[in-house]
Amino acid sequence: MGSGLQPERARHVAIIMDGNGRWAKKRALPRAVGHQRGVEAVRRLVRSLAGTGLECLTLYAFSSENWKRPDEEVDDLMNLMRRFIKSDLPEFIENKVKLKIIGDWQSLAPDIVAMLEDALAQTADGTQTLAVALNYGGQHEIARAAAKAAAQAAADGGEISIETIAAHLDTADLPPLDLLIRTSGEVRLSNFLLWQAAYAEMLFVDTLWPDFEPAHLARALDDFARRERRYGGR
Ligand code: IPE
Ligand code: IPE
Ligand code: MG
Repeated sequence: MGSGLQPERARHVAIIMDGNGRWAKKRALPRAVGHQRGVEAVRRLVRSLAGTGLECLTLYAFSSENWKRPDEEVDDLMNLMRRFIKSDLPEFIENKVKLKIIGDWQSLAPDIVAMLEDALAQTADGTQTLAVALNYGGQHEIARAAAKAAAQAAADGGEISIETIAAHLDTADLPPLDLLIRTSGEVRLSNFLLWQAAYAEMLFVDTLWPDFEPAHLARALDDFARRERRYGGR
């Protein structure tokens, strides 16, 4: 760790998939087409997962703030979700991709919750994790984890610590976050993985999400391997 001599291979990469709307606008197409093309970028990336050597890829698909968008756009996004799970689940199983969902996904429409539960069960023995953040907000995730850590401390007389909070985050069973990528040129976290990003490397690229290719991820992983991580030491 941190010596700079040994290239460090990333285990866990997360992506804020941003820019579908601008991709469509540039082509005078409806936003829905941008989202559709965004799903295709996800599909390409998931198909390339085996070659990346990653243990986990986490994708920000719908934030807890995205409910503020017009109903029609929210409906489009939910319908894309339904179609994507239905069409790609057999491939996930075949390719040993283990699905995981983070965020308050249990409060989505009942048919989506049922589809996701089925997909989780059917991919449970996969070897590489695809974590999808749905109705996800980092501040709320931390608040939920802190409340659980406090309840546990009250019950067993233990303390509330970094470890007890981390153990109750949605990502508790995932490797530490190595690299966080955001597409579309925006340089902000938009409430994504706030706790987990504490020592993650960051990469902000101008590429709009529908144009993001597996080669972009491969390049980001090469770039990551050359970075020196210090974790506050020297
Ligand atoms: C990202 O693209 C997709 C979601 C947030 C669901 P946007 O829809 O945010 O695209 P821009 O930022 O308007 O270009
Ligand atoms: C973040 O993108 C959420 C997802 C990519 C799912 P937004 O487009 O919603 O973020 P802001 O509004 O630009 O911060
Ligand atoms: Mg956006």
